[in-house]
Amino acid sequence: MITDAFARIPLGHFPTPIEELRRLRQELGPNCPRLFIKRDDATGLATGGNKTRKLEFALGAALADGANHILTSGANQSNHARQTAAACARLGLRCTLVLDGEEPPKPWNGNLFLDALFGAEVVWLQGQKDAANARLQELAEQSRAAGNQPCIIPRGASNAIGAMGYVAAVEEMAAQWAELNLPLDRIICVSGSGGTHSGLLTGLAAMGLSIRIDGIQNGPRPGQEEFIKDLCDQLATRLGLDWRCDLNDIHCHSSGDHAYGVITPAEREAILLLARTEGIIADPVYTGRALGGWLSRFRAGHYGADETLLLWHTGGTAGLFARTAEIFA
Ligand SMILES: Cc1ncc(COP(=O)(O)O)c(C=O)c1O
Repeated sequence: MITDAFARIPLGHFPTPIEELRRLRQELGPNCPRLFIKRDDATGLATGGNKTRKLEFALGAALADGANHILTSGANQSNHARQTAAACARLGLRCTLVLDGEEPPKPWNGNLFLDALFGAEVVWLQGQKDAANARLQELAEQSRAAGNQPCIIPRGASNAIGAMGYVAAVEEMAAQWAELNLPLDRIICVSGSGGTHSGLLTGLAAMGLSIRIDGIQNGPRPGQEEFIKDLCDQLATRLGLDWRCDLNDIHCHSSGDHAYGVITPAEREAILLLARTEGIIADPVYTGRALGGWLSRFRAGHYGADETLLLWHTGGTAGLFARTAEIFA
């Protein structure tokens, strides 16, 4: 594998399945491309999701450095935080999560409930989201002074270590796709903190595959293309590739420019559609938003019926259970 030279710790169930979305396609009518889904909601770690792949590398590197205390940050319903908490429990590491916002009243639900279940220590930023990195540094220093070996994993594990999980994921997907013996025109994925999108772009380049990626942003993200390019170039350097990412090959589409985490009719429609045609759960913040964004692009005529598309489900299932009242609102 392209990533074999790097430390990695097994945390997930791989390969995740690729399934055809026949009933969804039928529901969307004769202009709909052939649709498949890559089930990274089924990575197995604590209700699954894309962070399992990233954490295999991020925690692999942390353990290789002798870390025994992991610190990371995220939104209060962060899937990354939940999967980090579960992985730390499994590896016997202390885990501190620095989360945006004020501490919500108990009982906690969704990801936050799971953070507590896995025994993570939760520190609240009390509305000072921009202070996350400083707070992480401060907590890491306190931990070191107490004799621990702390390691900070960035938000979403979207650096050149974590994103390697999605370079490896391309190899996994390519082997599965070869068995299907079909063309693959595009991959559709959510483009959030950018590790998934960058890892996929770099993995495709490393394997010489020319498949377009349509990244759907999960909120307004000015400068996302430049951020993705920078991360791809860091990954390429790390992997010793000659390739450098061309900004023109990075496609980040808006999902309607709604703020992060807000549930609009688009997410509601996407979640219900996927659930009722395929029996698959999508969360509102990531996969539901990406699917909603993709649906509006499909309806605007951006995809041909003769194309074959792979929707990359990135998980987030636990987050849906924190928002149940809004789905049928
Ligand atoms: C469920 C889920 N899907 C997708 C993403 C976005 O992936 P990335 O941060 O790699 O862009 C996240 C990020 O937190 C997530 O939790």
